[in-house]
Amino acid sequence: MKYAIDPAKKLFRRDKMLYGHFIEHFHRQIYGGVYDPGNPLSDDMGFRTDVLEAMRAIEVPILRWPGGCFVSAYHWKNAVGPNRVPYFDKAWHVEEPCTFGTDEYIELCRRIGCEPYICTNAGTGNAEEMSDWVEYCNLKTEGIYAKQRIANGYPEPHNVKYWSIGNENWGDHEIGAKPASEWGRLVNESAKMMQRVDPEIELSAAALTDLDWNLNVLRSAGHRLKWISIHEYWDGIHQSNEFATYEQSIAYTDSLDRGIRKVRGLLSALEMENRIRIAFDEWNLRGWYHPDFNTYGRGLDRQKDILDPRDRNDDNYLYTMADTVFTACFLNTCNRNADIVGMANFAPIVNTRGCIYTHKDGIVLRGTYYVFYMYVKLLGDTILDLWTKEKEVLHPTDRWGRRRTVDAVDVLATLRNDGITAVSAINKDAENSRTISFAVPGAKKYRIHTLNGESCDSYNDIDVNGITLRTGEWTGCTEEISVTLEPHSVNVIEIETME
Ligand code: AHR
Repeated sequence: MKYAIDPAKKLFRRDKMLYGHFIEHFHRQIYGGVYDPGNPLSDDMGFRTDVLEAMRAIEVPILRWPGGCFVSAYHWKNAVGPNRVPYFDKAWHVEEPCTFGTDEYIELCRRIGCEPYICTNAGTGNAEEMSDWVEYCNLKTEGIYAKQRIANGYPEPHNVKYWSIGNENWGDHEIGAKPASEWGRLVNESAKMMQRVDPEIELSAAALTDLDWNLNVLRSAGHRLKWISIHEYWDGIHQSNEFATYEQSIAYTDSLDRGIRKVRGLLSALEMENRIRIAFDEWNLRGWYHPDFNTYGRGLDRQKDILDPRDRNDDNYLYTMADTVFTACFLNTCNRNADIVGMANFAPIVNTRGCIYTHKDGIVLRGTYYVFYMYVKLLGDTILDLWTKEKEVLHPTDRWGRRRTVDAVDVLATLRNDGITAVSAINKDAENSRTISFAVPGAKKYRIHTLNGESCDSYNDIDVNGITLRTGEWTGCTEEISVTLEPHSVNVIEIETME
């Protein structure tokens, strides 16, 4: 297929928070994941230095915490200061030790070099508890909570700029679920109190692609919001853990922008599209495996039926080129909508379905990790206009036996600050190489970086390097560049042009 790229046609600049991440108090994301006191690989705060290094290498721009469902019964005051109060976490049916709380989280963000992004408890919590949290983090000395922070060893404010009100309070699976009418009022009252503490904070609120829910929260609280949060897990295997195959996973790529389009349309209809952006602050091809977490008690054994199955999320062979290719396709979708999508958070970053897997002696970087590495290191912030008159499609069968139609190749053109034109080119075809060509005015040499495995089912694990990132040599070229993309591969082509 032939594409045209005009480096002078700049569509928009993407926010670096498009490559954000999420971490929750679930299974081994925090405890035994990034926070592992006593492990020889951990630092003075108990953070795994190998995990910190991997997070810094992909320049994590923002890290959403502490949940997720976990947050909807979380009371932050139990987890600051010298007397931590362990409690039973009713979201995930385990005891939360509270040894990792707000101050540890802020310290983690500082050591990674990322923005903190705190999601508040709008389930059992209230406007006062949320605004007290802002006091603790952002007031210098005034009041009760700033003084507590100082007494806890943090004389300077944590300066948390990004806050979200609630997490999926629209769904019965969430503790403290609410009807749309109640949600709008709660968000407005909470936002009001939080911004009375610090008017500079940027607020989001839990939303989804439901018109009634979003209309209510935007009409009630839109004047106080800078963001609206949506989530999506395409392969909903929370209960079954039966992964969609490569072909079935590719079938999902025919609708990657559906949620963005629906929310964009509503923001435009309300004339809020220039003031409120989308925070896609949980996304992943795969749902997390945690069977029966919302139906527990029907004769189920907590350890055997509820907790032990979660260990299956750690099976690295499950995370193949399907996850890798899908992740790159979704990031391309976010880049193409970077005028309205300002933040996206891969859910989660460590363990569960994340891109970094930890074990007691080290880490495994799954295929999805290298997608972030390529996008952060090789693609530019400026999105260029790219077009083609041709169309090559695939007809994958989805997991319900329906035939879907998707583009065979997903291409995104960007311009880097160093003048390099960097093109992401994803070949979704499981069997066939695909050749693409593009004309770039003034092109003089290029090189291609390829992320791939021997097969669609390649994966990385301890002592298994099935998915690798290879960099080709610089090759002289004319303005017409033609490259052949391996089957099921993620590629970035760097193009140097004449001065
Ligand atoms: O499966 C994990 C959960 O998915 C997160 O806690 C929640 O935000 C989403 O429903």
